[in-house]
Amino acid sequence: MTDRKFETRQVHAGYEPDEHGAVVPPIYNSVTYAYDSPTETIGDHRYSRMSAPTRDALDGLIADLEGGRYGRTFASGMAAINTLFTAVLSAGDHVVAGENLYAESHTLLTRVFSEFGVDVTFTDTADLDAVAAAITPETALVYLESPTNPLLRISDIAGVADAAAAAEADPVVAIDNTFASPYLQRPLELGADVVVESLTKYVAGHSDVMAGAIVTDDPQLEEAFEFVQYNQGATPNPFACFLVSRGAKTLSSRMRVHCENARAVAEFLADHPAVDRVYYPGLESHPNHDVAAEQMRDFGGMVSFELDASLEETSAVISNTEIFELAESLGGVESLVEQPAPMTHQDLTVEELEAIGLSESLVRLSVGTEHVDDLLADLDGAIEAGVR
Ligand SMILES: Cc1ncc(COP(=O)(O)O)c(C=O)c1O
Repeated sequence: MTDRKFETRQVHAGYEPDEHGAVVPPIYNSVTYAYDSPTETIGDHRYSRMSAPTRDALDGLIADLEGGRYGRTFASGMAAINTLFTAVLSAGDHVVAGENLYAESHTLLTRVFSEFGVDVTFTDTADLDAVAAAITPETALVYLESPTNPLLRISDIAGVADAAAAAEADPVVAIDNTFASPYLQRPLELGADVVVESLTKYVAGHSDVMAGAIVTDDPQLEEAFEFVQYNQGATPNPFACFLVSRGAKTLSSRMRVHCENARAVAEFLADHPAVDRVYYPGLESHPNHDVAAEQMRDFGGMVSFELDASLEETSAVISNTEIFELAESLGGVESLVEQPAPMTHQDLTVEELEAIGLSESLVRLSVGTEHVDDLLADLDGAIEAGVR
């Protein structure tokens, strides 16, 4: 299957018609599976917190799309990330983490795992010397996003993997691939040990289901992820698995439109007199545009910007859009707008926001698949009405 093109694999990988000939994975709601004798199950499953047919199909699909041997899906992206941290970290360990992370990933490290004796250093992972310098003999994990949420920073994933491999501690390198999706970027092929992602976003693609995934080639890590998931119980339900599998079949087609629209939005904003700064890896002005061009197929559907305006005017602009819905989340076919400081990243302290350069007035767009002319007109009208 894996020598077929992505567009073919996203439709077929992970599932063959079952004994009834069902062409798409059926929703198996059974929680428990029958045994022939106390030591022999009739089929491959015994209890659905451990494994179940609808989830198996999704696990196989995501592993294939990310180009890894083992795929494991979860109740949410955060459930997958929590499993990664639980499986890899012990008291006394140290983590080198990207300084700009999704707020809950940041919080898990600083307010949950820190309580269990894990130490974390946040670093600019775009700077490979800084990554190498931050790794200590206790470093068990190097963890980052690229592109990051919400500043769209890019790190050289192969360079980070090399820096980690060169260190005596040889930490696990794990990349959150949520913003790119496996269609645009495959971190395992770039040398990462683990990829985690929220399937809630681009992979499912319709803002109607929560799920997450971990993929790796390493059998020992997979065994640890399986152990943690089975015992902690963050499994996705069968209907969620069905919805994600259904959404994933159109991932490449949706991503092409997301990227095309986002590029047009970024260029429009970059040329707009009321806009101070645009963050989009596809713009040549982005500090790591070349690295993004090298490791990604295209630059994604997320764009952030700051207006040359007061906080009140910024709030007015994002409250006035008609197509861009003012809401958290991303990666669905519908366009969304949000302000990370009071919304998605509200759990970070003012000092933490300042440390990563996330201004209060930053606006984040998840550019959907609507017609680009309508999206540009919506933004233009809202800026016109909101900025005096
Ligand atoms: C980069 C990134 N990672 C992880 C998550 C968490 O995913 P979920 O909401 O599915 O738990 C998010 C959610 O927005 C995210 O943006």
